[in-house]
Amino acid sequence: MNHYKPTDKLAKLIHTNHFLLPVINRFGFRLGFKDKTVEQVCQEQNIDLNFFLTIVNTYTDEDYFPQNELVSFSPVLLIDYLIKTHEYYRNYLFPEVERRLERLLSSCQGTCDDLQLIKSFYNKYKEELLKHLEEEEQNVFPYVLALLKAYENKQALPKKYANYSMKSTEPEHTNVDQKIYDLKNIVIKYLEPTYDDNDCNEFLFAIFQFEKDLLDHARIEDKILLIQVLEIENAIQHG
Ligand SMILES: [Fe+2]
Ligand SMILES: [Fe+2]
Repeated sequence: MNHYKPTDKLAKLIHTNHFLLPVINRFGFRLGFKDKTVEQVCQEQNIDLNFFLTIVNTYTDEDYFPQNELVSFSPVLLIDYLIKTHEYYRNYLFPEVERRLERLLSSCQGTCDDLQLIKSFYNKYKEELLKHLEEEEQNVFPYVLALLKAYENKQALPKKYANYSMKSTEPEHTNVDQKIYDLKNIVIKYLEPTYDDNDCNEFLFAIFQFEKDLLDHARIEDKILLIQVLEIENAIQHG
């Protein structure tokens, strides 16, 4: 698979993978970029080019793994990006899924027990995912920032983080990834068709999009952030 490069036009990125739309928004890029290339837009907006390319390529190719020299951008940039993604889930994707679910529920004729079960499954899932995001924001990201500061200033890591390591701190993704798949699967396989088809499709489209974004997001945390942090943890231990 060909990966995006600095000389590609930003418009081409969107034509070939429209799921990148919210991703480029998180970098502050908005539509109307004419024939500008990735390199030009990054320069104009003061965005680290390697960082941008690593993210869009990770979102486009599941097997993409950036070369070492490409991962040399600061973890601070990555954490800022990951937090923006969490906000996107809280402020846009959750409410959007819920709007579509309510519409689906109100289109239901007769007994709608199955749909009520879907709703309670979704609510439990949401609670679990919110807990996951919070754990990262309250434990993982502050640890990485403290680690980076200690490394850069050649200081000791605050006592509070003495027993922390990236591998033991980052919560598992398997559970949250599996459950959103299960949610889709129950609707596709077992839901009694007593609802409006278009409303149900709209609900599923939103879940598919959410699932894709979550998988890509988890890959960035499990691969890219992890490599960066392991490198600093090693340097501190051996430094
Ligand atoms: Fe996250
Ligand atoms: Fe995560």
